[in-house]
Amino acid sequence: MSESTRVTFGTKLGILAATAGSAVGLGNVWRFPSETANGGGAIFVFIYLACVIFFGIPLVLAEFIIGRAGKANPAGAYRNLAPGKPFYFFGIFAVAAVMLISSFYMVVAGWTFDYFALALTGKLSNLTEPSAFKQIFADLANDTWRQTFWMAVSVISTAVIVGFGVKKGIESASKLMMPLLFLILLVMCVRAVTLPNAFEGLAFLFRPDLSHVTPQVFVSALGQAFFSLSLGMGCLITYASYFGPDVRLGKTAGQLAVVDTLVAVLAGMTIFSTAFSVAGTGSAEISEALSHGGPGLIFETLPQLFQALPLGQLWAALFFFLLILATITSAISLYEIGTAFLHEEFHCSRITSVILISAFTLVTGFLAAASLGGDSPLVFFGKTLFDWLDTITATWMMPIGGLFVSWFVGWYLDKKLVRSQLSNNDTTAIRFFRTYLFLLRYVAPIGIIIIFLVSLLK
Ligand code: PFF
Repeated sequence: MSESTRVTFGTKLGILAATAGSAVGLGNVWRFPSETANGGGAIFVFIYLACVIFFGIPLVLAEFIIGRAGKANPAGAYRNLAPGKPFYFFGIFAVAAVMLISSFYMVVAGWTFDYFALALTGKLSNLTEPSAFKQIFADLANDTWRQTFWMAVSVISTAVIVGFGVKKGIESASKLMMPLLFLILLVMCVRAVTLPNAFEGLAFLFRPDLSHVTPQVFVSALGQAFFSLSLGMGCLITYASYFGPDVRLGKTAGQLAVVDTLVAVLAGMTIFSTAFSVAGTGSAEISEALSHGGPGLIFETLPQLFQALPLGQLWAALFFFLLILATITSAISLYEIGTAFLHEEFHCSRITSVILISAFTLVTGFLAAASLGGDSPLVFFGKTLFDWLDTITATWMMPIGGLFVSWFVGWYLDKKLVRSQLSNNDTTAIRFFRTYLFLLRYVAPIGIIIIFLVSLLK
């Protein structure tokens, strides 16, 4: 597609909503709060912010530069910027990683739809024993067809949005869904922090506790920044390929980081205030669930906590609706990468491309869901296929993708091009250009290699 005919996002708000839609997802709700509680409260938040500033934002900017200058899907963008060079395979790697991540992400998106339906129909209400909530989730995990049904609902919702195209589909949907998500989160957060004893939860979450600070905490903060900002998978490359020439990349990267962090902090405040208000400080089981995070926290502990509140059914339904918004806006960005790739590299129509991506994720998602059932054969070296897909993508492929990005923009790309992208052809002043290059060339790759090695040794 030629540069002049390439579609662009229509508005600045649309750009922020779409990029923040990709970033805000499960990472903000089930990882950040638990990492903060485990990592020394306010100290973790501080380390996380440092990681976002010194390491996340430079890589976000690098992906933006590749996307806007390359004007194509990740593979095409690398090829356009380095014709005849093997960098094309960096893009293929990103697309492959995205297909794998989608395979388990869509299963979880399906769970959120399932739980929303359970909450609406009152099936999460009137249960007294914690074991009843565990059983509900176990029933879902053991029922491959039920998971597949709800996954199909999320696949179709995502595919329809992506099928409508960049402006009418992705931008319009994000502009509607992200403000709604933010509003629901604010309402839930205000409700949670005004509950009796909510302060105990906030104190637990934010009290600086130096005794928790270990090298592992730095690694977790870096990994979290990476996952949460959707880095290393070509998501931001693809979205930036739809940025117009007047979009200020630095400002957009900053806004994206602020929104993503704010949502994570608000989600943490909501979850911890509710937990400490309902269960008190002494509940070992709840503390354990809070520090583990993940599906146990979201699908077993939280429904139990909401149920104990007045209007519990409403809070549970609102929470799972919020999660649907968060997962679908991230899923859209995952699907758009594969769609743009098939459309531009193999000349499939956009609709055919979306259908192929959806069919692929339905099959691989089905296998991932089936691996969770009791005696599934899809368990390898003690890990289910579902967990393998998560580990391979989040622990291995995302950091490697990030290394590729910092290598390409930090070392290979002509610095004049980098500068002109950041300054919109010298129409805006850029400060810190040298600092930026230093972060991208040295700090980011060294940080990534450390996360990678430590997570391999874990
Ligand atoms: N950033 C998303 C989250 O925090 O849940 C996850 C994600 C989406 C990662 C898209 C990577 C990606 F390409």
